[in-house]
Amino acid sequence: MKKYTNIYDIDNIPEMIQEAIQLKEKPFAYKNLGTNKTLVMLFFNASLRTRLSTEKAAKNLGMEVMVLNVNDAWDLEFEDGTIMNFNTSEHVKEAAQVISQYSNIIAVRAFPSLIDKEKDASELILNSFIKYATVPIVNMESATMHPLQSLADAITIEELKMTKKPKVVLSWAPHPKALPQAVANSFVAMMKNIDVDFSITHPKGYELNPEITMNVSIHYNQKEALKDADFVYTKNWSSYTDYGKVISEDIDWMMTKDKLNGAKFMHCLPVRRNVVVEDAVLDSEASVVIQQANNRTYAAQIVLKKILENL
Ligand code: CP
Repeated sequence: MKKYTNIYDIDNIPEMIQEAIQLKEKPFAYKNLGTNKTLVMLFFNASLRTRLSTEKAAKNLGMEVMVLNVNDAWDLEFEDGTIMNFNTSEHVKEAAQVISQYSNIIAVRAFPSLIDKEKDASELILNSFIKYATVPIVNMESATMHPLQSLADAITIEELKMTKKPKVVLSWAPHPKALPQAVANSFVAMMKNIDVDFSITHPKGYELNPEITMNVSIHYNQKEALKDADFVYTKNWSSYTDYGKVISEDIDWMMTKDKLNGAKFMHCLPVRRNVVVEDAVLDSEASVVIQQANNRTYAAQIVLKKILENL
């Protein structure tokens, strides 16, 4: 594997999931693979799970890890040809090449602005590192995608499914803040590439990018959509059409134990209790969010392993 910026960088997704499950059984089986190799993790935004699970994954493979909170460094310029006499101090052209001197793999987290739809869609930060770095890039959540999360989600479904082709529903939930569509986008892309009966439910106005949801059934009636579901992935995202706006905080869309009706509850975390999902779900056996979070390590580890094997 040359990079992992979206799930399409995986040659064979079902095989990758199985290999991740095997790694989970023997996490130190390749502890020499990363000897004398360094992962640099760049955070433009906050993180708990991604930061710790990716570091743990790298260390399980014997890598050194360095973390840079980019906001503590020089303000970076991303536009070409800019006269840099304002706030930015260093161009990404130099920064990406310099960071490449210290690393064998660079992982980047850079959220969208949720203001400029076209700029967010262009993935300027992630693509600048892909363009100017001289080492492989891993996406730790970009403007539009969170492929490490969706790989962990697919691993979790594979581990827990009771039928060959489980019914999986992505259900929008209310949230007071405007959140990115990245987790939902990557989850949809992943579900389209594994053997599940997949659908999405959300209020009108919360349609995701139609290029991503093409051929997926979308329901505006949550109750009907959730009928007979095996897994319910609950997630807020801001409007894609009315870009970045919170157009509904309808608490009727919060996930409850009644609505789940025996299905497994999934969420990427962090999650707002009694806004996105009621306590009775999170505190019950139906919730698999901790298993999902644990699987973030093995999703990252299989990705880093594949990249290290290709260096
Ligand atoms: N799910 C997830 O990416 O969590 P963090 O934002 O804490 O990394």
